[in-house]
Amino acid sequence: MLTTRKLGTQGLTVSSIGLGLMGMSQSYGSPEERDDRESIATIHRAIELGCTFLDTAEVYGPYKNEELLARALRELGPNARDRVTIATKFGFKLVDGKNVGVDSRPENVRRAAEGSLRRLNTDHIDLFYQHRVDKTVPIEDTVGAMADLVREGKVRYLGLSEAGEQNIRRAHAVHPISALQSEYSLWERNLEPRIIPTLRELGIGLVPFSPLGKGFLTGKIDEQTKFDSTDFRSSIPRFSEENRKKNLDLVQRVKQLAEKKEATPAQIALAWILQKGDDFVPIPGTKRRKYLEENLGAADITLTQEEMNTLDVNFSPGQVAGERYPAPLQAMIDR
Ligand SMILES: NC(=O)c1ccc[n+]([C@@H]2O[C@H](COP(=O)([O-])OP(=O)(O)OC[C@H]3O[C@@H](n4cnc5c(N)ncnc54)[C@H](OP(=O)(O)O)[C@@H]3O)[C@@H](O)[C@H]2O)c1
Repeated sequence: MLTTRKLGTQGLTVSSIGLGLMGMSQSYGSPEERDDRESIATIHRAIELGCTFLDTAEVYGPYKNEELLARALRELGPNARDRVTIATKFGFKLVDGKNVGVDSRPENVRRAAEGSLRRLNTDHIDLFYQHRVDKTVPIEDTVGAMADLVREGKVRYLGLSEAGEQNIRRAHAVHPISALQSEYSLWERNLEPRIIPTLRELGIGLVPFSPLGKGFLTGKIDEQTKFDSTDFRSSIPRFSEENRKKNLDLVQRVKQLAEKKEATPAQIALAWILQKGDDFVPIPGTKRRKYLEENLGAADITLTQEEMNTLDVNFSPGQVAGERYPAPLQAMIDR
């Protein structure tokens, strides 16, 4: 059963598993595979099942993903907005619908917020994240502009995404940060040495993105899987044919545990995150009701300490072949 969890200490409470909407508008599969009707049905089913923490961003689409969410809520009726927690993000420079870099200048923070409010057809954003740190703008200036939006009632809580330790501390000193959204999963553990201890010291929640390893940890991707040229994974080192071969050995172990637990590998990957701490709220992404229902089943899986330890060791740093991002995208991560 889904429960609720707190993110940060400012009062933000969300469903214990959220839904990532990005893939409904970009990144995974081919354009022909995306079907707005099924995406909207997936959002409706999520809300029905109590999965009400919905993750989007200005840059997804761009713009289309927020519009899709607004459409899904409109179709559910006038009270739907109040049943969900909308998290969106700003921080990219969009020129003619193309993402040409980062931009966290205060004027862009405000422009993006106004645009998101309009597209989402709402008077407030529940959780507003900076999507990537902009090294040319002091984070104090960016968070200052975000805090103005809170004072005006347009934003409820603030978040950062892929920020490093120093910028998390500096941001939090300007206005309390409720959540950090960053990649975290069995096969991406870079947050463990420094970022997670910092979050816990400051009382900031973690929203792990790509908690299913962009689909890899579900066990449904193998050596034969072909990615469309527009599929983001075709450019990710971890998914190259050679690296995939090695990484499949790791997924095999998740499959074995899943069989023993009468669960699926996706459920094991999510249960592992849920049990890492009640300050973690994963947002698995899917555009299909079938996967959504499977993923929410993770809330009913309990791993023993021994099973947790074995997973930790199997996926310890150095075991996974290939980087999680190609170099230009990795350079945008604030470490
Ligand atoms: N802050 C950031 O910079 C950032 C970056 C990336 C993502 N995010 C957010 O995090 C969310 C989740 O991350 P993500 O979408 O990158 O990765 P993910 O949740 O690890 O994986 C998504 C992929 O897994 C597939 N999938 C989901 N459930 C499945 C299941 N039960 N069985 C088989 N396949 C399954 C999806 O397929 P289908 O698409 O076919 O359903 C999709 O291809 C995104 O939607 C987005 O909102 C944020």
